[in-house]
Amino acid sequence: MIYSGKAVSAQLLDDGIAELKFDLQGESVNKFNRDTMEDLGKAVDALKADSKVKGVIVTSGKEVFIVGADITEFTDMFKQTEEEIAGWCIKANQVFTAFEDLPVPTVCAINGIALGGGLEMALTCDFRVMSSQAQVGLPEVKLGLFPGFGGTVRMPRLIGVDNAVEWIAAGGQHRADKAIKDGVVDAVVEPAVLRDAAINLVKECLAGKIDHMAKRNEKLVALTLPAMENMMAFQTSGAFVAQQAGKNYPAPMAAVNVMQQHATMTRDKALEAEAKGFAKVAKTPQATALVGLFLADQAVKKTNGKFVKAGAGDLNQAAVLGAGIMGGGIAYQSAFKGTPIIMKDIADKALDLGMNEATKLLAKRVDRKKMDAAKMGKTLSMIRPTLNYGDFDNVDVVVEAVVENAKIKQSVLAEAEGKLKDGAILASNTSTISITSLATALKKPENFAGMHFFNPVSMMPLVEVIRGEKTSDTTVATLVKYAQKIGKNPIVVNDCPGFLVNRVLFPYFGGFGMLMRDGADFQAVDKVMEKFGWPMGPAYLMDVVGIDTGVHAAQVMAEGFPERMQYDFKDVSTVMFENERYGQKNGVGFYKYEEDKKGKPKKVVDDTTYDLIKPHVAERKEFDADEVIARMMIPMCTEIVRCLEDNIVGTAAEADMAMIYGVGFPPFRGGPLRYIDSIGAKEFVALCDKYAHLGGIYEAPQLLKDMAAKGQSFFG
Ligand SMILES: NC(=O)c1ccc[n+]([C@@H]2O[C@H](COP(=O)([O-])OP(=O)(O)OC[C@H]3O[C@@H](n4cnc5c(N)ncnc54)[C@H](O)[C@@H]3O)[C@@H](O)[C@H]2O)c1
Repeated sequence: MIYSGKAVSAQLLDDGIAELKFDLQGESVNKFNRDTMEDLGKAVDALKADSKVKGVIVTSGKEVFIVGADITEFTDMFKQTEEEIAGWCIKANQVFTAFEDLPVPTVCAINGIALGGGLEMALTCDFRVMSSQAQVGLPEVKLGLFPGFGGTVRMPRLIGVDNAVEWIAAGGQHRADKAIKDGVVDAVVEPAVLRDAAINLVKECLAGKIDHMAKRNEKLVALTLPAMENMMAFQTSGAFVAQQAGKNYPAPMAAVNVMQQHATMTRDKALEAEAKGFAKVAKTPQATALVGLFLADQAVKKTNGKFVKAGAGDLNQAAVLGAGIMGGGIAYQSAFKGTPIIMKDIADKALDLGMNEATKLLAKRVDRKKMDAAKMGKTLSMIRPTLNYGDFDNVDVVVEAVVENAKIKQSVLAEAEGKLKDGAILASNTSTISITSLATALKKPENFAGMHFFNPVSMMPLVEVIRGEKTSDTTVATLVKYAQKIGKNPIVVNDCPGFLVNRVLFPYFGGFGMLMRDGADFQAVDKVMEKFGWPMGPAYLMDVVGIDTGVHAAQVMAEGFPERMQYDFKDVSTVMFENERYGQKNGVGFYKYEEDKKGKPKKVVDDTTYDLIKPHVAERKEFDADEVIARMMIPMCTEIVRCLEDNIVGTAAEADMAMIYGVGFPPFRGGPLRYIDSIGAKEFVALCDKYAHLGGIYEAPQLLKDMAAKGQSFFG
């Protein structure tokens, strides 16, 4: 053994070839945490000092190669100064370059996932052999960063500017065929022969058949293309990247700029430039938010794991009641992810519509070559449309998605309960009716909970699992597991009007209503909020949700929280509703909708909206963007804090993720609670105070006042 550490070992094999192996003890994956980096440094020193070493292969003792840096270390690390962060990169790079500069040929055997620092490690080798099953990529931009262990330096020098920009600025994870086509790896082999292939490649280098130093040298020098060509390549790809990423996501463009900046430099100078650039992006609020988001997502998965541990039941057969927009979507999603589902309705026509919708969604996948026709047929056969309860005694979980009417829902739920086997779980997809009150119709309320999907089901990642007063832990466990099984992200919440997402979304719409009342232009508000990062502004969003649905839900919220959400003026959405302008669903709401060439609804301006609302609003005037943002965002943020106070949601991470998955809260802002953090609790309370005269939705909740007094934040 040449070296043996906690994460890395180096051992001499036959013929003077050493194996440098990553195998982080006590973890299921390899990652670059402080220990691994330190270990690698020591292993490289040991390899350098051993004169018997004639060549090196790099391998992994795990199923993955190396998944990347340890992101849990980022939060603290990025609190340091730019100089300190750059210093950390340079230190890591010294380990990498010491390895790259070993006086012997080096070949990496990429057996599984190699992302970020994992791929950057592979790039320090002279050659890379990849398993046909592995995947590689540099996804740092997804965290608001770019590669900081030499990725921006070695990639353009190895695969050219255009390819490097694509790999780094888009942050994709790629299969072997793409990796070899673009030159990121040198060979692709079957997993069983990977290690031998790497050893053979070292042997060929040693036999002088392959010039590894020529290959290595490509990475040590400045970019070899003529300066003019380089400039053109950076300019064209830069313009494309800037347009794709948009102003709110600066990292991809920063990566392009840093690559251009160090294009004329040799390796070590280029690495310094990369480190400086990395430190700059690491200090952006976007990086803070996106790293936070990644960690919040992990935390939510852990929390869900704990819920499931309470003992989820079997999930071999599902059923859905109602074959409408939601029921059809749920049936599709369940079948698509492999859980057979019975779809029951009271009308033949509805069943046809539900099946047609599933067929359409699957056909789209076939068209895009994401599925073959045989798989489509198999998936469709997993949805069984029916008008009766035959076979319900074999069902493990039932989701009710009939019309939004408490009486009908209660009778349908009670009827279904009578057909089910012991221990089967019932859930309702209601958007506004109390789960605890629906449960009163049931004999076994403990086996019942809410399971709130979002429209369109196939696209929206969130499912709220709503615990009623009598819901058992096993029921929660089973529904969390079912949501995960069908590819959704569940968040467990307690019962209250609007549950979590709508309870937080409707005060935001309340803020919109007040802005309109005071003379704001709905198009101007939409523009400001879209620039803020929302996929669509509030008026457009209401049109998409459906004005009728929105007005109904707003009434429920007003009854639930009259002290804050009962308004003393006529809201513009009510005006739209009274004029039968229901939004996208009937072609006109705040905007008018026409079909584009692909048959998708296209939003166009409709001046009659202004005439209709005129009698109910103040004279139109311009509002400062900051005021619009404050008046829209404060109500959402104060309400989500109240949900934490009221224990509707368990943790800040779950609360933020629900808003990102459920309503497209701008990810680069990390979620409403992280948004408060970015402003500071004290400053946010001051902002609330400034607008508190507008009504209860602007008042700072006690929890926030306490946090402001103690200088606390939601995320450390
Ligand atoms: N549409 C949305 O955006 C959305 C989002 C989240 C939740 N929801 C909720 O989902 C539920 C369904 O909404 P939708 O938009 O799919 O409605 P929908 O009107 O499209 O579908 C309802 C279906 O239920 C069927 N139905 C009525 N009574 C039935 C019974 N006794 N047994 C079986 N089927 C019966 C109807 O024939 C119809 O096919 C509602 O509770 C709604 O609040 C809707």
